[in-house]
Amino acid sequence: MRIKIDEKYLKNFLTEDDIRPFYSLLEPAHDKIMNNSGEGSEFLGWRDQPESPDLEEIKRIKAAAEKIKNNSDVLIVIGIGGSYLGARAVIELLKSPFYNSMKKDTPDIYFAGCSLSADEISDILNICEGKRVSLNIISKSGTTTEPAVAFRIFRAMMEKRYSKEELKDRIFITTDKSRGTLKKFADNEGYETFVVPDDIGGRFSVLTAVGLLPVAVSGIDIDKLIKGAASARKSYLADGLTNTAYRYALLRNALYSKGKKIELLCSYRPSFRMMSEWWKQLFGESEGKDGKGIFPASVVYTTDLHSMGQYIQDGERSIFETVIVQEKSSSPIAVPFDKENVDGLNFISNIQLDEINNYAFVGTTLAHTDGFVPNIVIKYEKCDEETVGEMIYFFFLSCAASAYMLGVNPFDQPGVEAYKKNMFALMGKPGYEKLSNELKEKIENLN
Ligand code: PA5
Repeated sequence: MRIKIDEKYLKNFLTEDDIRPFYSLLEPAHDKIMNNSGEGSEFLGWRDQPESPDLEEIKRIKAAAEKIKNNSDVLIVIGIGGSYLGARAVIELLKSPFYNSMKKDTPDIYFAGCSLSADEISDILNICEGKRVSLNIISKSGTTTEPAVAFRIFRAMMEKRYSKEELKDRIFITTDKSRGTLKKFADNEGYETFVVPDDIGGRFSVLTAVGLLPVAVSGIDIDKLIKGAASARKSYLADGLTNTAYRYALLRNALYSKGKKIELLCSYRPSFRMMSEWWKQLFGESEGKDGKGIFPASVVYTTDLHSMGQYIQDGERSIFETVIVQEKSSSPIAVPFDKENVDGLNFISNIQLDEINNYAFVGTTLAHTDGFVPNIVIKYEKCDEETVGEMIYFFFLSCAASAYMLGVNPFDQPGVEAYKKNMFALMGKPGYEKLSNELKEKIENLN
């Protein structure tokens, strides 16, 4: 397997005796995952999906991606949370965070509907001026406020520019297969639809049309992405309790029990930043409930060593780090020699940046472990589609196991509703009158 765990930086923090008791939690967790016997088991579709993807759907995804590539300069992807983060993470990791500014023969891709910022929407509308645009709205429920608002705005822009017939080649809807307002709307207008499977929740959906359509438009090979996930599935399920994904779940639960309540996902590449955002949602929404759960946070090094480094080295000792290390980069760049040696850096001239980044990793890890921050290291050799597919499955499986070990349902998110209800009440949504009055009184008492 491509994804490996290096435990040497845990030596002073965890012994096998510390980890062993957690097998008694892992065993039932594994049983719940394999036999659909735990809470939320109706959302275990991600477990086998890479092994038996819907080939007809994949064919349509590829055809739609080709159409978008041929008729568009810009693709706007509208979605939030699990209907947004995966696609953006994979594109930034496998292409570049600068994907849109790069020379390429695929459309620029902008993500909207993941905030309520008028400035952001206005910027994207401006970017679309004079460009050929396609739109992919992704919403399982079809009623999430942020994407629904953005869809109204971008649809209005599209309707001004294109005829009803033309829009059929430019608007693509990813939603529930039969229920929901978006599906009905798409069928009425004749827009092509893609399915968010019933048994796969948002944060586990990147390998469905939710992630695959935007990812395919960027030119990434989605077959290889799925292949990577499928081979991870095969290997992890064959290894059972000893698989690497479960090992990660065991380590983080053992650290949590020792008071390490914050997990910092650290990478040494800015291209991993959105992958970390995806990971935060996956673990945060799956585990953070019933008053429990590791708080997932992330940093990009060495950048954040100059902002968060002080706290991590020296602040409250409630953190552990999970460091993602990509061993090889595809861009060989060395430090140039400078005759004047103004900055005194000639001692590293002609050394590859990759090597220097590795010194940063080793130096930082030694410093942080000296500062009582345990480090789990997750390594892979190079960043390609199959590795990223494997990584996605690695995190899916470890997350499900970890949450079951903690005693929570990995697949629901009841806490997300609280802010929505308040927002609806404050906006005057019909049916929320009682809450609206309660909130007004609360606000009054704050003044
Ligand atoms: O993981 C989840 O379930 C959430 O993040 C949802 O994906 C998010 O709230 C968007 O929901 P929907 O796809 O219904 O618009």
